Amino acid sequence: MSWQQLLRWYGDAGVDEAVGERPIDRYAAVAEAPRPPTMAAVAGASDAMPRSRPPAAAAVPPAQGATSAHLAMACESLAELKAAMEAYDGCPLKRSCQRTVFADGNPQARVMLIGEAPGADEDRIGLPFVGASGRLLDRMLASIGLDRSSAYIANVVPWRPPGNRKPEPAEVELCLPFIGRHIELVDPALLILLGGAAASALLARQEAISRLRGRWAQYSSPRLARPIPAMPTYHPAFLLRTPASKREAWRDLLAVRKRLDELDQ
Ligand code: URA
Repeated sequence: MSWQQLLRWYGDAGVDEAVGERPIDRYAAVAEAPRPPTMAAVAGASDAMPRSRPPAAAAVPPAQGATSAHLAMACESLAELKAAMEAYDGCPLKRSCQRTVFADGNPQARVMLIGEAPGADEDRIGLPFVGASGRLLDRMLASIGLDRSSAYIANVVPWRPPGNRKPEPAEVELCLPFIGRHIELVDPALLILLGGAAASALLARQEAISRLRGRWAQYSSPRLARPIPAMPTYHPAFLLRTPASKREAWRDLLAVRKRLDELDQ
């Protein structure tokens, strides 16, 4: 096999970033890392938390081995959360990506959209949904009178999986406390969950997105004053591959528009 064929073979397998001279078994590292508390455990911990504010995650470098749940829980602002995520080194994806893709849009907006994980364009630029699916997402938002000044966008996983593969369940679990705290701090009126990965992770539901989409669900968390209505819909990348499903996504977006209009009354 020539080196050109070998490179093509790597590219086809999704290995498109050189990150070191020697291979490292990241899965062994995840298996050894202490498991983060579940959301239920976080709830218990938050109930037991002292009333005084915990030290800001941004101000102190994360302790060796501090879990994503402990770090996320200590954050009292988006700036602290962003700094904590940037300083966190417990997720193997962090080592192969270029940037932490935190969010884009207006954190005061009533609508927060959540995708799966950054792709190559997002990783290079540092903002979510800036590639081909981002352009479709912008058109979807425009169709219901929204844009990035009236919506806020983040991902379940803020670090690009190599080769744009799907994040592994263990990676999603490590990132869940961060996106959970992100939602709590933004506290939007409505959530739009883009694709099966976001819907399953945040609603703890196993059904396919084709079954979840189009029906209002509720996102609850102990530090939210009330559950947030959440609309699961198709991911723009899926819609680019399957344009026939745009009709259903359009219906889902109309349901969001209707709910926003009702909030205005
Ligand atoms: N797909 C996602 O889920 N998120 C992005 O930011 C880009 C593509």
